Amino acid sequence: MHRISILGPKGHSFSVVTAGEGPVVFLLHGFPLDHRLWESQLSSLSSEYRIVCPEFRGFGATPISEDETYSLGDLADDVELLRRHLAANERITLVGLSMGGYVALEYWSRYAEHLSGLVLTNTKPNADDAAAKQGRLAMADEVLRTNRNDVVRGMLDKLLPTDVARDTRVQAERMMLDTSPRAIAVAQRAMAGRRDFTEQLDEIDIPTLVLTGEMDQLAPVDSTRDWAAHIPGARFVSIGQCGHLSPLERPQEFNAALTQFLN
Ligand code: MLT
Repeated sequence: MHRISILGPKGHSFSVVTAGEGPVVFLLHGFPLDHRLWESQLSSLSSEYRIVCPEFRGFGATPISEDETYSLGDLADDVELLRRHLAANERITLVGLSMGGYVALEYWSRYAEHLSGLVLTNTKPNADDAAAKQGRLAMADEVLRTNRNDVVRGMLDKLLPTDVARDTRVQAERMMLDTSPRAIAVAQRAMAGRRDFTEQLDEIDIPTLVLTGEMDQLAPVDSTRDWAAHIPGARFVSIGQCGHLSPLERPQEFNAALTQFLN
């Protein structure tokens, strides 16, 4: 497993953690997390695949500058820039968890020709309603005003079931608290302004796997099953005893579902 840094045309530098050789699988993390969400996939799946975990602007070791803002479409363009660097002549499988799933749908809408498969995990295709947008903008304002990131601690109980293994909880909390107030604010504003893909699901014509956890409060199993049914031929998998962070909480089950899909 190694970390590389890739320079973009506008002076951006992107941190990517990668491992293995073989067909290329990009794993896009959720909010407010980083490549460590995918530790088990980096170690277990890299014997057969080239696993590529980009870190979005401001997350992990990818910097974000003082006045920078972005849309989720910009993050999809970043992913394409990385694909051109790392897998120029290949089609990739793109896996996105939650915010990573929003970016994966943006990527599909722009660059479907470069995809051999799409995996949408613990995520949803719809945009926010007014109250959810308001909540995000309020969090963005608060973290910038206080210059503190500990408000994200309040998200932990929504991301993970109460009886989750202590190590998993500690690991998730560590990633969240390693995320800067600026990164949190900019990502919340970008998610508040994200597009709604609900009406386009039936246009997805590449092999797709939709996954969620049976205890996921943010991507509940029933609504996820319902929207997945609009994607032609999509497989749907729900993982038992699992909340929002399925690759971290239930790596064996998650890896089995992903490997079966990839094969
Ligand atoms: C995530 O896990 O990426 C976030 O929960 C997404 C969101 O806030 O909608």
